[in-house]
Amino acid sequence: MELLCIQSQEHPKLPQCELKAVIECEEMEATLNVITEGLVIVSGISEENIDEYYQILTRRLGYTHEVHQILKTSNVSDFDEDILSLDWQDYIDENFAVRVKRFNSDIDTVAFERNAGALILEKCNNIKVRLKNPKSLVRLVAFKDIIYIAIEKYHLDKKHFEDIKPHKRPFFYPGSMSPKLARCMVNLSRVKAGQLLLDPFCGTGGILIEAGLIGCKVVGSDVNWKMKNGSAINLDYCGIKDYRTFHLDVRELKMYEKVASVVTDPPYGISTSTGDIDGDDIFKEFFHAIYDNMAEDAYLCMASPHYVDLNPMIDEVGFELVEQYSIKMHRSLTRIISVIKKSHTK
Ligand SMILES: C[S@@+](CC[C@H](N)C(=O)[O-])C[C@H]1O[C@@H](n2cnc3c(N)ncnc32)[C@H](O)[C@@H]1O
Repeated sequence: MELLCIQSQEHPKLPQCELKAVIECEEMEATLNVITEGLVIVSGISEENIDEYYQILTRRLGYTHEVHQILKTSNVSDFDEDILSLDWQDYIDENFAVRVKRFNSDIDTVAFERNAGALILEKCNNIKVRLKNPKSLVRLVAFKDIIYIAIEKYHLDKKHFEDIKPHKRPFFYPGSMSPKLARCMVNLSRVKAGQLLLDPFCGTGGILIEAGLIGCKVVGSDVNWKMKNGSAINLDYCGIKDYRTFHLDVRELKMYEKVASVVTDPPYGISTSTGDIDGDDIFKEFFHAIYDNMAEDAYLCMASPHYVDLNPMIDEVGFELVEQYSIKMHRSLTRIISVIKKSHTK
């Protein structure tokens, strides 16, 4: 069985790599096929696993807009016959809408929506078309000549990422990253629900919130007590219960338990203070401080500015780089997202 993911195209790689990391850490028996940017299919899923995997993906992913279960892979010429071959009463509850999304295709979306709606109605009694807030959504995805006929069984709540933007939280301070990027970084760190995640530069708690919302236990620390208190206020506001926050310089970090994941956005530039640490030394100090606090198989996902070369520091401390992405912020700043783990050759 197959799940089709419609993803954000705001970055060419991060949405697929986030999905790949979730498949990996959740130990899903599935294969990821990138059809084109924004369209990815997770295939080879057994009937036994499909619902569980579907729910994990909709609960976790940041850069994916929608997840659907593929009912049939059709094409423009066989479309009517294929739509009619499906037992729609098994998938539609009272009312439905058909929506088309195109990738490298020039099919007439309105005509396809109308035609598919009419064919489904022809097959089933007791269901109606409802364009606004339908109970069931039939999603047709056209890619070149192929048409994936799919149904949305679990909804991915994108609204959360709007509602929880930094300026909408009770404690605000400039410099917090977007909730979607924070969620993506949590996922890239391969952490699972119930495991312990640490952000030692927690600021207003943006990363801790996203990790808490997917069910992680979270710990945050910050050298500034206002941030430490502010992140607790924001975590309470988001209904996250399993958290601890500490007022601490990263150099004093000594965790009560080794962590399964570290996700963080260290301070840089003139807008954030680094305690009394000079320039790039904050990164070096951070790597040394964090190493012994991480479990052997833990991952670290961090942001840094393009002008800081992390690679020699990563090697020196005994870490190894797993993957790296760049995000252009503005003309003079590119943010680098690095996924790092402990090296077994240290
Ligand atoms: C870029 S901000 C983190 C933003 C955070 N992700 C958020 O959602 O608000 C960096 C944070 O590191 C903290 N910081 C600076 N130097 C530190 C140090 N030596 N030890 C611990 N925290 C430090 C700052 O107080 C600031 O809150």
